[in-house]
Order: sequence, then C-alpha cells, then structure tokens
Amino acid sequence: MSVRHFLTLKDLSKSELKQVIARATELRKMQHAGDIYQPFVGRTLAMIFEKSSTRTRISFETGMGQFGGQALFLSPQSTQLGRGEPIEDSARVVSSMVDIVMIRTFEHEKVEKFAEYSSVPIINALTDDFHPCQLLADMQTFHEHRGSIEGKTVTWVGDGNNMCASFIHAADQFGFELRVAAPYGFEPNPHLVEKYKHCVSVMESVEDASKDSHLIVTDVWASMGQESEQNTRAKRFNPYQVTPALLDKAAPDVLFMHCLPAHRGEEISIDLLDDPRSVVWDEAENRLHAQKALMEFLLQDKIKL
Ligand code: CP
Ligand code: NVA
Repeated sequence: MSVRHFLTLKDLSKSELKQVIARATELRKMQHAGDIYQPFVGRTLAMIFEKSSTRTRISFETGMGQFGGQALFLSPQSTQLGRGEPIEDSARVVSSMVDIVMIRTFEHEKVEKFAEYSSVPIINALTDDFHPCQLLADMQTFHEHRGSIEGKTVTWVGDGNNMCASFIHAADQFGFELRVAAPYGFEPNPHLVEKYKHCVSVMESVEDASKDSHLIVTDVWASMGQESEQNTRAKRFNPYQVTPALLDKAAPDVLFMHCLPAHRGEEISIDLLDDPRSVVWDEAENRLHAQKALMEFLLQDKIKL
C-alpha cells in the first residue's frame, strides 16, 4: 500500500475525516478514564520544528508517549537541516529510521518535497499556507459541543492566513458555509476562494459575516514570520476585534474558537476567552486526542492488536 500523508485536509476523504474525529472523541474519553492503550510500542515520531510551538509540540510528544512510542524533537539549530542538507536527502534518511514524521515550517512546498522523498507518513504541523491538524481539533470540538457541523454557518474574522485556508478546506470536507470577514488586502488566497466558491464567501463587514453564525473563529493579526508587520497590521485589523457583543449578533448557540496563542486586546477583547460561548480550552486539549487519532489512522498497518 502506498504511504498516506496529511499535508492538508484534502489528503483524507470526507468519510476518513469523520472517522478520525469520532476516534479522537473516543480517545479523549479513554484518556480521561485513565485507560492505558499502547499500540505504538517501539515506534518513533520525528518532530521537525522550524517555528515555535507550545500546543503542537506538547500534543504530539505526549500523544506518542501515551501510545507507548517515543518522539524526537529536531530543530534546525541542532540538526543538519539548518546547515543546508537538501530536503530530499533528509527525508530519505529520517524516514529510514522512524515510523512517522511531523513538520512545522515556513514554505508549504517544503513539506510537499519531504513527503515526496519519505518512505513514512508526513504530517503538516503548520506551514505558511495551511494548519490542518488544528482543524481536526476544531471539528472535533464543534462536534462534541453541538453535534454535526454539516449545513451550519461558520465565520472567520481577520487575516486570510494559514488557519483561514484550512477552514476553507474544512468547509468543503465537512459541508458547512464559511464566511470570511477580512480587511481589504488581507483576504485568503483568491485561487482557494474561487475553487471553493460553492461553500466560501469573502466580505469586509464583520457584522454581516457574523449574523446568525454557529461558529466564530479568529487568529492573530501577524503570524509567525510576519512579526515586522505587527504595527501596520494592527492599524488595518483594528475593526476586526472579536468581542462578546459580536457573538451576540450570531446564532444563540454560537461557539467561539481560536487556535491560540491569543493576544487579548488585539484580535479578541480582554474578556472574550472567559465568555461561556468560548471553547478554546477544549479546542486546545483536543489537539492531543485528534492527533493521536490521526497517527493511529496513518499507521494503521503497523498497529499490532
Ligand atoms: N495552535 C497551535 O498550533 O499552537 P502552537 O503554535 O503553540 O503549537
Ligand atoms: N496563524 C498563526 C497560527 C499559530 C498556531 C501562525 O501561523 O503563526
């Protein structure tokens, strides 16, 4: 069987995504019950981080440990990756020794190239273009709080960034309507919007985009790698702060999500994470369960029952 990768949400079919999310909820319950389940004894996950991380590193490393395997943290500073060893060579070597690899980097093309030369599954743990692992946790969290997201309306507020692009994929894969409210010049990739226009629309007015919405989501105004643009972006994004008053314009059962880290007083008001409609802490925890389900799915041929 050919190796399966998870570079975007489009790498799994709609039914496979549903299966992974249902399994994530099962794994959450097992973890909370204190069950020991170790299908990955003797297996290794390599974790390549070219950008910072709290949630992604802890969830992958802990998840692999809970499954009985081990995780290796690899940074460019401490490996030859940072000294120019070609991706093709690194991919061949790393994948000859480990069972699965996750990569957080800048250019999306890097994870594509790594996958092309890897003999084991590659997981995209965030690139400049997509953050599909976060969407697994987000979809799991919505499902656990409100049931199926199919046919619902979701509002993305702010930068048309990597998270927004993965929400566009999710709209198609999970069957919801996505409204993106972004300032002019910061809209999501127009090719993606055109390709998925059956489920995505872009508008400038946050109020219009939020009306009757079932889920409101935002993210930082300047992503990793854009730190020098922080001040200019802050001026443009100022009208796009998500507040409890904005949630009041949405459906009565609206939820609020943010992949975190959040900047209180910028993309969200100081009080938003304390609003009962915010589910960001469940969303963060679900990174653990969703990625365990994903690794179990990608390594299903290697699991000994
Ligand atoms: N949401 C997310 O990916 O968080 P980290 O950058 O902390 O991994
Ligand atoms: N858009 C953010 C997400 C961080 C998890 C970034 O890329 O920095």
